[in-house]
Amino acid sequence: MNAVCFIVVVMFISCYGNKTNSQKGSYTLKLENANYEELRSMLWKIKGTGQGMREHEEKFSAFAASLTDPKTLGAGQIVKFNKVWTNINNDYHPSTGVYTAPIAGVYQFACTVMTPYSKTLRVFLWKNNTQTVAIYPGDSGHNMGTLNMILELKKGDKVYIRQGRGEKYIHSQSTSNFSMFSGYLIR
Ligand SMILES: *[C@@H]1O[C@H](CO)[C@@H](O)[C@H](O)[C@H]1NC(C)=O
Ligand SMILES: *[C@@H]1O[C@H](CO)[C@@H](O)[C@H](O)[C@H]1NC(C)=O
Ligand SMILES: *[C@@H]1O[C@H](CO)[C@@H](O)[C@H](O)[C@H]1NC(C)=O
Repeated sequence: MNAVCFIVVVMFISCYGNKTNSQKGSYTLKLENANYEELRSMLWKIKGTGQGMREHEEKFSAFAASLTDPKTLGAGQIVKFNKVWTNINNDYHPSTGVYTAPIAGVYQFACTVMTPYSKTLRVFLWKNNTQTVAIYPGDSGHNMGTLNMILELKKGDKVYIRQGRGEKYIHSQSTSNFSMFSGYLIR
């Protein structure tokens, strides 16, 4: 996509450059071909720079999953969001609830949870063995809470939603999918 924009911009500049000089409209097929060859070699050079850049061009990862049933979580239990909606590159495992970063990069994660009526819940987003941000929806009626996080991850780092402290009730329904977890590689 970037390459296409680049070509368009360069073509525009080269045409404009010629239209403003005295030889208006005089550029030939031969000249266009010369510009094209130059561009092509430039693009090859850009493509060839940096192993990391090439790796990112090839790899994309994104997932979104929700919970189909309400649960009473055990102490420190990882929430297994079992209904997978998106799993590009298969880095999220519904059987464990864990997402594993396929490459080093910057990632976005989000989680929204709902509590059963008048019950409490506390969950944290974990990065490997580090507890990061939490959700603690209120304690009356049904409540929803959400977290949003951007994390710099190394290849193999694990990210998941885990129960914390004493609050352990999470709500969801297969007909409404109130509780969910998602993430993707930004770059
Ligand atoms: C414009 O045309 C001239 C001669 O026709 C050529 O030498 C020059 O390189 C062209 N400029 C661009 C920007 O392509
Ligand atoms: C996170 O855990 C994975 C798997 O156990 C390990 O490969 C990686 O080095 C850990 N990363 C950090 C930052 O501790
Ligand atoms: C919730 O997810 C289920 C699949 O588990 C789907 O059949 C249902 O349509 C979803 N509910 C809504 C309101 O979209």
